[in-house]
Amino acid sequence: MSEDQNQPPYASPELYGLPSGVTERAPGAERRIEAQAKVAGHAVTELVERFGSPLYVIDEESLRGAYRRLSSAFREEWPDTIIGSSVKTNYLSAVQAILRSEGAWGEVVSGFEYRLCRDLGIPGNEILFNGPWKTDDDIRLAIEEGATINLDGDDELERVIRHARDMGRVVPVGLRLNMQVNYPPWDKFGFKLESGHALEAARLVTAAPELELCGLHMHVGTYIPDPGFYGRAVESLIAFGTRLERELDCTIAHLDIGGGYATRNTLHDTMLPGEAITATAEEYAAAICGPLRRAARQFKKKPRLFIEPGRILVDEAASMITTVRAVKRMAGQQKAALIDCGVHILPTSWWYDHELRPVEDKGGAIEDYRLVGPLCMQIDVVRKSVELPALTAGDLLVIQDVGAYNFSQSMQFIYMRPNYVLANASGVELIREAESDEYVRTPERLPAHLINDETSGSFLAGRDAR
Ligand SMILES: Cc1ncc(COP(=O)(O)O)c(C=O)c1O
Repeated sequence: MSEDQNQPPYASPELYGLPSGVTERAPGAERRIEAQAKVAGHAVTELVERFGSPLYVIDEESLRGAYRRLSSAFREEWPDTIIGSSVKTNYLSAVQAILRSEGAWGEVVSGFEYRLCRDLGIPGNEILFNGPWKTDDDIRLAIEEGATINLDGDDELERVIRHARDMGRVVPVGLRLNMQVNYPPWDKFGFKLESGHALEAARLVTAAPELELCGLHMHVGTYIPDPGFYGRAVESLIAFGTRLERELDCTIAHLDIGGGYATRNTLHDTMLPGEAITATAEEYAAAICGPLRRAARQFKKKPRLFIEPGRILVDEAASMITTVRAVKRMAGQQKAALIDCGVHILPTSWWYDHELRPVEDKGGAIEDYRLVGPLCMQIDVVRKSVELPALTAGDLLVIQDVGAYNFSQSMQFIYMRPNYVLANASGVELIREAESDEYVRTPERLPAHLINDETSGSFLAGRDAR
């Protein structure tokens, strides 16, 4: 090909380096990181003045909004849908009480969660009792109060038969299934569909005079952005359920498709932000209820649909306010901002790149920061890399969408859990107070042989060693 003589000769572009980690703001076209001065309509600076930092804030309106969106998306498609709020996703009583006031049942996986629901006024017959290990006491209480028990394995099946016989009851039960719809499959739980184990369990249940098989349960996994997985799972539940109705003398009165609906949070090392890949409530509802609607007539009677959402209800309703306490330069020249919120109170940092905002954008260069927590552990990293305007000690940040699993999986390590507050249009209220030394040490005992001149004044010395 002949060269066009009119073209200027090729000149390679000139590259100007910036110091590592610094992104210059183009003059006139200022690149800004959006600041967030308020949480749930309340000024962050005032919240911190009143309740300290770090501070975990639940936005009541947003929590109610998430419930209503999900509920109407499903009820539109399948009117007999019941939402069982996954209690382990957030143990704060105020959170579960708000969801209950919207109409949620409780989905529990332990006696503690069961009692929490009962304490908030949720009757036993509006509790879905799941999980791989239920104690004998918990099973008896659930039978007594008419909770929906989803059996997880052969040993539990035998134990429930024994308790039912002892108590002179016929207990309606569901079977938790696991199946090959995603990789890796969640096969720690339930009876395997493809191997015939689930069919065998269904035969045992229907043959036992103490039990009545009334439902099938499935939980595909957690943070499942693709509704297609649910579509496949529900198709399998339908095929299996209608087969059981035909071959065994039972009525599958409910199908429980579990939780796992993703939120806009972004998992580590994913190409696209969570917001870009996550399905809407309507898309999940369509994937699940479409096959149900098409198969409805194959069932003896239309089954009730249970869903057990956790993160999709509570994640976006909560924010963590944190303060920059120090700024350092790391070995690789990246800057580190040490914040007072560590992985002990934000364990979801292990798998999410949480979105966060400065409370005030003071201008200046945008830099790449590593956000490290206050714990004396190298691995206390809240964000490996995030662009933020220049930070100095005292600056406030808002970490968004932290409602799911952060409180229930938090731990007291080096620093204690902070205040948790509920914010709404009429104000802000404390819903869990910051832990104290006394709170942490109260369960401890100092054995008698360790009480001596030095320890006799200890707070623990007067406490009975059992
Ligand atoms: C049985 C069951 N149901 C519901 C949930 C809630 O899951 P998610 O918070 O992902 O919606 C879980 C959590 O793993 C679960 O194990």
